[in-house]
Amino acid sequence: MTKTALITGASTGIGLDLAVLAARDGFDCILVSRSEPRLHELKKVLEKRYRVNVHVFALDLSEHQAVERLTSSIDDAGLKVDFLINNAGFGTAGELLKSMPRPRQKRSA
Ligand SMILES: NC(=O)c1ccc[n+]([C@@H]2O[C@H](COP(=O)([O-])OP(=O)(O)OC[C@H]3O[C@@H](n4cnc5c(N)ncnc54)[C@H](OP(=O)(O)O)[C@@H]3O)[C@@H](O)[C@H]2O)c1
Repeated sequence: MTKTALITGASTGIGLDLAVLAARDGFDCILVSRSEPRLHELKKVLEKRYRVNVHVFALDLSEHQAVERLTSSIDDAGLKVDFLINNAGFGTAGELLKSMPRPRQKRSA
């Protein structure tokens, strides 16, 4: 039976590459990120090139209850996740101290 991989942050970068590798290895894919058009473009490519089924769920995973919404959508679509590639995120570059949020100023009475 075909296995399904859920890949978050699949629209660009490492997540996109991992989605290609998963599809190449015969996994159906569930792609998640905020950019719906990019995910649909990738879906088209993967389905055509690797003959797998690809499902797209566009959402902002930083939002409250996004994970619950995603799991409900997956259940509603009758899908089962065999592998999770939990890749969505962002990085910053530069000096650690400069990348930290500034402490709040005390308000004067
Ligand atoms: N590249 C590195 O050297 C490096 C090093 C260490 C760790 N990492 C980690 O590896 C992961 C991938 O890195 P990358 O370089 O491939 O980054 P990237 O090119 O910026 O890709 C990030 C992916 O995450 C998605 N994403 C970001 N915020 C999201 C949100 N709130 N909700 C849903 N999707 C979201 C983006 O899609 P949308 O913008 O369409 O939502 C995109 O698909 C990140 O978690 C990063 O922190 C990367």
